[in-house]
Amino acid sequence: MANAFRTLALLGGTKLVTERGDEGWRIITDHEKKAVMALLDKGTVTIVGGTGVIREFEEKFSKFQEAKFALAMNSGTATLHSAYFAVGIGPACEVIVPSYTWHATITPILHCAATPVFCDIDPRTLTADPKDIRRRITPRTKAIVVVHTWGNIAQMDEIMAIAREHNLKVVEDCSHAHGGSYKGKKVGTFGDIGCFSLQGNKPVSGGEAGVAITDNPEYYDRMLLLGHFGRIASEAKTGLFKSLGDMSLGAKYRPHAYAMAIANAQLDRLPELNRLRTHNYRILNEELRGIPGIETVEPLPGAQRAGFLEFKLIYDPRQLQGVGRDRFAEAVKAEGAPMTVDRYSSFNYTYGLLHLAPLFNEFDRSKLGGCFYDFKAAEAPGTRLWAPGSLPVTEDIGQRLLTFPAFTQMPEPFIRQCAQAVRKVATHIEELKQPA
Ligand SMILES: Cc1ncc(COP(=O)(O)O)c(C=O)c1O
Repeated sequence: MANAFRTLALLGGTKLVTERGDEGWRIITDHEKKAVMALLDKGTVTIVGGTGVIREFEEKFSKFQEAKFALAMNSGTATLHSAYFAVGIGPACEVIVPSYTWHATITPILHCAATPVFCDIDPRTLTADPKDIRRRITPRTKAIVVVHTWGNIAQMDEIMAIAREHNLKVVEDCSHAHGGSYKGKKVGTFGDIGCFSLQGNKPVSGGEAGVAITDNPEYYDRMLLLGHFGRIASEAKTGLFKSLGDMSLGAKYRPHAYAMAIANAQLDRLPELNRLRTHNYRILNEELRGIPGIETVEPLPGAQRAGFLEFKLIYDPRQLQGVGRDRFAEAVKAEGAPMTVDRYSSFNYTYGLLHLAPLFNEFDRSKLGGCFYDFKAAEAPGTRLWAPGSLPVTEDIGQRLLTFPAFTQMPEPFIRQCAQAVRKVATHIEELKQPA
């Protein structure tokens, strides 16, 4: 081992990571297979109403979440669109949303002919910063969207207080945080509607699916109306749309029966998945403590993180002799640890920096027609609305993150060696400096 610490593997030394790091957690187990086979054996290929396995999942999820209603859909994006429609986001409304998220949190705002107004993040949690949310409120603001990014819980006390003060709706994107809570209350139940992606990488997955929760019968009915023909007459909670019979507005958001069968089985395994990921993140973060230039992302006091999706660390080149994050990650990877970084370019916006994406700037959305009218874009077509520097924390932190996969059943010695690989590279940082 002492040898392994001597020279960086990237520069010809011995790799530090010697343990095997096979991920033992399987998305599809016998449990999921049996659930799908039961439907196949019955010849069930689709379920039109909220019956069978769809009802089973919705009931189980609403109970798990301690929410009155759960409505399953075919994607997380569909749940976000439905939520925005349900709370009344419409033409000329502004919606405050962090730029540090996946684009699907934001694009459905455009489908409501509304304008996304980006807010900065809190560098400790990588979630929407309440102080910045406050600064962005105008008479047109209708709603705040929070994202519990990488399972970190947003500061819901402050955010809900702002919403009450200004009479704003709150939608929570919980796509990374299934099972998370704050002060004992489940994520997704603070705001008006909680949205969860159940896509293939998510902690509860149906392959492709999503689910929205709410305690508000009117919002539930509006979500049914938007995307679920055939359920309104028998399942609506209010009489609001009685005159429409079973018609919907035509967005077909119902989930596939097999996706529901898989998600249903996965929900049973979520507590175990969260227990393992929480334990492993703690081990990783403990091992990393005290390494100069490497900051761990700690939970907010009172928050129970969950889901995770990925494990993030914050890199500070100022404490590491100016060596760039990408070079550092390359060296850690060369040691045998599965470290990656998110890269941004003008056409590759993944997580973060979405306020700089062409779609929200010089691309002229006013010409798209249909529902894509945006009063701000129309006022100044083709201009850059969000200059670089407008969200300083997002632009800084978003490009300083290091990523490990969410270790679920990786062996503990492997996880410890991954952290030691980071320590080794930090210790040898001098060797990574570019020759002058
Ligand atoms: C934060 C966030 N919101 C929304 C989505 C969209 O979910 P889906 O892919 O199920 O539409 C994702 C998917 O990765 C996500 O990460």
